[in-house]
Amino acid sequence: MRSLIRLLPGLILFCMVLTGVHARSKVLRPSKDDFYTPPPGFENEKPGAILKSRTLPHNSLAVASVFRQNLESVYQILYRTSDGLGAPVATVTTLFVPYGADPLKLVSYQAAEDSSAIDCAPSYTYQSGSSFSDAFIQAEPLFMASYFRRGWSVSVPDYEGPKALFGVGAMAGKATLDGIRAVLSSCSFTKIDPMADVQMWGYSGGSIPTGWATELHPSYAPELNIVGAVLGGVVVSPNGTMNTINQQDEKGLVFPFYRGLANQYPDMAAYLDSVIKPEKRKDYDRVNDLCLTGIMREYKKDDLSTYFSEPDYVNHPTVKKALEENVMGQLDTPTIPLFMLHMEFDKLAPFSEVKELYSRWCDGGASIQFNIDASSAHTTHLLLGAPDALLFMESRFDKKPIQKGCSTTGKSLSKIDSHSLSALGSLLWNAWVGLNGIRLGAKNP
Ligand SMILES: *[C@@H]1O[C@H](CO)[C@@H](O)[C@H](O)[C@H]1NC(C)=O
Repeated sequence: MRSLIRLLPGLILFCMVLTGVHARSKVLRPSKDDFYTPPPGFENEKPGAILKSRTLPHNSLAVASVFRQNLESVYQILYRTSDGLGAPVATVTTLFVPYGADPLKLVSYQAAEDSSAIDCAPSYTYQSGSSFSDAFIQAEPLFMASYFRRGWSVSVPDYEGPKALFGVGAMAGKATLDGIRAVLSSCSFTKIDPMADVQMWGYSGGSIPTGWATELHPSYAPELNIVGAVLGGVVVSPNGTMNTINQQDEKGLVFPFYRGLANQYPDMAAYLDSVIKPEKRKDYDRVNDLCLTGIMREYKKDDLSTYFSEPDYVNHPTVKKALEENVMGQLDTPTIPLFMLHMEFDKLAPFSEVKELYSRWCDGGASIQFNIDASSAHTTHLLLGAPDALLFMESRFDKKPIQKGCSTTGKSLSKIDSHSLSALGSLLWNAWVGLNGIRLGAKNP
């Protein structure tokens, strides 16, 4: 993530200067916006039931909170789902519909929020006029442009829910599947066909909801027609990932992971509260107010282990339980055809865990195309892998025959073939079209 995060602000500033930045309109933060509060009795509704909806301006999706994307329509839906312990909660999904949309094609895009702050939910940070708080996810609409230009609609669930449960797998997975249910029952105002084919996408932090959704799908939402899913930079276990992160400049990312889990497990939160050093209390609490970029900036040199008076807090039963419960690969083998991409020397999400997950799922009968890159940055592969992932999604929507079973391919910049190269070219071109405010849609001029 580092290279992209370092590059992006400069790149975005450069583009801002080039295109001229419009005055910002103010958008209410989720913590201040009544729309996020469910009506009384919502607990009795079915998972995925629509509780509220609203229409946003058609150009409210923005890259870096300023570059408005010109779409046909944008909707938000508050729907019922469950947290990681099964308690009913309400969360929001935002649906982006391009011009000339194919009502039968929907992508559920799980953003890499990586924060334990409610105000970092993508329903807010993706909007023009939100504060520029998260270079990574606020750049993700650059990828979506390629979906829009194919006429695919995109929904982005706030899969961490109202308690900002970063790292809680069951919350993330259920909110993703229930978000799809909500969008598929929104036809009366969004025109999305209830029988639409659905695919899921998630990279890095977004791989948590996507991976958990693929594993929960057979038991929790078998009725959903999900025809493919892309999982990249896969975060299999919070502990494995935090142990790797703690060796890197990205140390700060450990904080929202811990806070996200503590937001879900009261016994873990109470325990950590009892061992936090008094002089660290303020910094420890401030994490729940920061998005990814702020966390990386302000906690760069901080090691969470120096915050607690108990050196072996990781192995306290309450912490251990939370860490163990949120490891991917403990539920059903996904039946959805998968495209996975990961770097062999990924410095944030350890490859060994992903390889193990891949083998387990393959042994269980999954169909997976696994694209491995021999480099070490967490995000460069996103650019190399995304075109192939896009081609995979295209073939799934086109109902091309599924490649049964598992296969791995290597990918590197030197070996990139002409097919992927042209897909990469078109991905960048589509992003450029979006940045310039040109209509994004299937019947583009
Ligand atoms: C998490 O990692 C730490 C450090 O390696 C280890 O002591 C602990 O047992 C691990 N916990 C779990 C649940 O895997």
